[in-house]
Amino acid sequence: MRTELSFAHPAGIETELLAVTAVDTQTSKAPGSKPEPILLTTDEAIKSAAAAILASGEFKAGANETLLLHAPAGLKARRLVIVGLGKQAKATVQSVRQAAGTVIRFAKPRGIREVTFALPKSALLPPGPCIRATVEGALVGDFDPDTYRSDRKDLSIQSVTVLASGNSDQDALKAAFAEGIIIGESQNFTRSLVNEPGNKLTPTILGQRAAAMAAEVGLPCEVFSTEKLHELKMGAFWSVSQGSEEPPALIVLRYEPEGVTGGPILGLVGKGITFDTGGISIKPADKMELMKYDMAGGAAMLGAMRAIALLKPKVRVIAIVCAAENMPSGKAYKPGDVVTAMPLTPDKPGKTIDVINTDAEGRLVLADGLTYARQLGATHLIDAATLTGACVVALGTANGGGFSNDDETWARFNAALATSGEKFWRLPLGEEYADQIKSDIGDIKNTGGRHGGAITAAEFLKVFAEDTPWIHLDIAGLAWIEDSKPYIAKGPSGTAVRSILEWVRSY
Ligand code: BES
Ligand code: MN
Ligand code: ZN
Repeated sequence: MRTELSFAHPAGIETELLAVTAVDTQTSKAPGSKPEPILLTTDEAIKSAAAAILASGEFKAGANETLLLHAPAGLKARRLVIVGLGKQAKATVQSVRQAAGTVIRFAKPRGIREVTFALPKSALLPPGPCIRATVEGALVGDFDPDTYRSDRKDLSIQSVTVLASGNSDQDALKAAFAEGIIIGESQNFTRSLVNEPGNKLTPTILGQRAAAMAAEVGLPCEVFSTEKLHELKMGAFWSVSQGSEEPPALIVLRYEPEGVTGGPILGLVGKGITFDTGGISIKPADKMELMKYDMAGGAAMLGAMRAIALLKPKVRVIAIVCAAENMPSGKAYKPGDVVTAMPLTPDKPGKTIDVINTDAEGRLVLADGLTYARQLGATHLIDAATLTGACVVALGTANGGGFSNDDETWARFNAALATSGEKFWRLPLGEEYADQIKSDIGDIKNTGGRHGGAITAAEFLKVFAEDTPWIHLDIAGLAWIEDSKPYIAKGPSGTAVRSILEWVRSY
């Protein structure tokens, strides 16, 4: 997609589709009160082209509502689309992000290949963040998951222009625009990985894709396998992978900005199960095909690292993706097995894990990933994983689950959400939950029963984070979108890339 930031006036722009935002200014909830949509533009030509349709009451400016006008009078654009941001008081930069996606997804099936966005003009919506959000929303909206359709028609948008006429601080706006491209493309990189089926994206191939991306953006990347797992005594990670013919991949990326020798080292750890059958504790067939997305946490870390490499924050970052396939076989680990996790230092013993359920595999690979990140010097940890169905039961698909052993670290992450526009809800940890994963035979067991399943999974990880400030993101309900939305296709969402990136940038 070609992208351009322009400071020209909208009326004179020749384009296939000019998009303008609108909000509903009606504040009364009295019965009979009607929506009062207004356009977020100061451009008189656009206002007059849309005046009649706005007065008609046909368009309510609801969030992601669209209305199309052909040959709008007084404009050079061939079409004008008005897109709603919802109630004026509730319209945010995230509404702008979604609206941009909505316009793109409106344009695609109509064969429109070129879109121009007039930046919303409103005291409540700052231009820089709106430019960034528009570009991100447009790129994310352009993604479709039909990669393997032999009759695939490429309906991608070829050109997107954002019009920021009337704004003075052009350099800052150009920077915001460039950022939006990097972030949107990084999120789509994650989505393209998550979209791949298990036969096409094995742990080894995920490692190759990570290495190729790293080479492109100039990050050192190492991809290890079985031998290294044994060398590091990663007994938990290895136990998950041992049932598969496909060797595991331990993917390590480093971001070391020039001149930064002190300060924190952020450790990003992702669950990279390229397919989760459940292993010997096998899953039911219904919806099992979706378990190709069980590497979404790992893919989110790779997308975040791509953006970090290009945006160059002044903080060191290490990313670790633990990739494996969870399969049942004669070599597979079994319920009742006791496995020994990686020791933090070679002289210390690793913690012993009582495997109750081989389908609780994510926490096992992450246990060793977290320990390895700490061994490599991480001072702060964040992990992302499609970890539990219980998290989806608790929070549905609107919020991801967030956990932390440190309020300050969580506060930073929570602040990052305001910029990313993503939603995570902090859930509690505590002794009572930790009690649920005490084992009779070893240090801990890998499941804590039916109650509080997302929390006991987090408690398990916390045992390995120990005293390192740590955040855990359970993205089981977010990483795959079951029903398409006006602004995003169904399929992989790329959730957590933007939030992790903003959290990193906060240091
Ligand atoms: N990958 C699954 C969790 C999952 C479920 C992700 C649904 C996305 C959608 C994970 O490995 C798993 O199987 N978790 C078990 C844990 C249980 C055995 C304690 C679960 O949630 O049922
Ligand atoms: Mn599982
Ligand atoms: Zn899993």
